[in-house]
Amino acid sequence: MDLSAADHRIPLSDGNSIPIIGLGTYSNPRVLWCTALDPENVRPCLERTLKILQLDYVDLYIIELPMAFQPGDKIYPRDENGRWLYHKTNLCATWEALEACKDAGLVKSLGVSNFNRRQLELILNKPGLKYKPVSNQVECHPYFIQTKLLKFCQQHDIVIVAYSPLGTSRDPTWVNLSSPPLLTDPLLKALGEKYNKTTAQVALRFNVQRGVAVIPKSFNPERIKDNFQIFDFSLTEEEMKSIETLNKNVRFVELSMWSDHPEYPFHEEY
Ligand code: A2P
Repeated sequence: MDLSAADHRIPLSDGNSIPIIGLGTYSNPRVLWCTALDPENVRPCLERTLKILQLDYVDLYIIELPMAFQPGDKIYPRDENGRWLYHKTNLCATWEALEACKDAGLVKSLGVSNFNRRQLELILNKPGLKYKPVSNQVECHPYFIQTKLLKFCQQHDIVIVAYSPLGTSRDPTWVNLSSPPLLTDPLLKALGEKYNKTTAQVALRFNVQRGVAVIPKSFNPERIKDNFQIFDFSLTEEEMKSIETLNKNVRFVELSMWSDHPEYPFHEEY
């Protein structure tokens, strides 16, 4: 892949393209959230988002999670005992409603997030499928390299977009801290020293170099700038392979509070 600081977009299967590096956020959902997966709620939810963003359309709209929650105003609906209020999930019906939004010009490309292989296949094999998902946003970094999902997605022209590419903020309220901090890894550090780059830049370069888009989060202007300086060096094939051996196959973002949802995506191997 020939990427440079000036041109670092990668093509999508629908003819559009996506920057291989973008800005991660921690904001309220601007994606299709779990409480709006019923087909009749999809377009109104997107239209609310467009209004807030003061846009006529968005480039990419994604289903954030394959698990439906009870529709309504609460982003995280629970009953009076604190139990999650799940909702029946029909991903194919949701997808058809998204296809209609694309046909209406409200969105240029359609993607998903946190979908496992089975859930991707549900969409890909849907009778009458009009538009394939162009991307699947999932956790991906040197400690969780997603080899099998990446291969499957590449075979189907689906770009993997890596969230938490730097190993998260390690907030114990939602992060599984059983793996050590990614950015203190000795190999990533050593490679950073070799190339006069930070550990974070090496971690980001690793993903970008294997065709994975990255959306690192930072509130620090200097670090935001630094995180984009990953197009003036490249890792050797051997170095890429040695970074792959760091894989621990453990997620920082397990979403285990929803593990009893019928469509919880992380029980399957990938
Ligand atoms: P900060 O906002 O203070 O920069 P991820 O994208 O994997 O979720 O990681 C986000 C975390 O990584 C945030 O805590 C962020 O903190 C930190 N971070 C972002 N960029 C860098 C960097 N270049 N070096 C070190 N930490 C970084």
